[in-house]
Amino acid sequence: MAAGRAAPLYDGDSARGRRPIKCVFSQCPAAVRNEGFLQLYIFRTYAKIKAESTKKAVSEMKVAIASDHGGIHIREEIKKLLEELNIEYEDFGCDCETSVDYPDYAFPVAEKVAKGEFDRGILICGTGIGMSIAANKVKGIRCALCHDVFSAKATREHNDSNILAMGERVIGPGLAREIAKVWLTTPFTGGRHAKRIDKIAKYEEANL
Ligand code: RB5
Repeated sequence: MAAGRAAPLYDGDSARGRRPIKCVFSQCPAAVRNEGFLQLYIFRTYAKIKAESTKKAVSEMKVAIASDHGGIHIREEIKKLLEELNIEYEDFGCDCETSVDYPDYAFPVAEKVAKGEFDRGILICGTGIGMSIAANKVKGIRCALCHDVFSAKATREHNDSNILAMGERVIGPGLAREIAKVWLTTPFTGGRHAKRIDKIAKYEEANL
């Protein structure tokens, strides 16, 4: 890696926090500066487009929702929330209280979100863990298991998570509703976070 090149390309985190771009670039020769600025411009434009693309109006979103037998009550609560927020949704089951297998419900929702047929997915099981493990096997899915409002907000802002998983044996319907509301209405921040998500996408492309 050429000195003065790699580090200044992004205005991301350094060990001491955000590093002012100007002071880093002022140490570079002109040719490197020009190339660096070009790459920085491309990166910022790309990050901005990416952030904009996830800022779709809440009422324009389409959400796929499913649960196993361990999550049916929270699923009903979240469906009421989606109706209140005027969000179009499709319920992918399950239809009964007898024991079913969570992957049978996680995969269809995750695949539909990954293909772009739905903007987001919400999956509920007893713990939320099985659903999140299964959903995250699908390429392009960033499923976040959240049982608190802070994480729900942070995972939208930082990870641009496209599926939310929750566990009905862990939290009650009131908290699940607050978590889902924050998760549905918080936009992705983009910027330095976009580059981290790109690394995951590149890994998926190369390895899955
Ligand atoms: C079903 O009993 C339970 O295992 C399931 O809902 C979930 O918690 C799995 O992670």
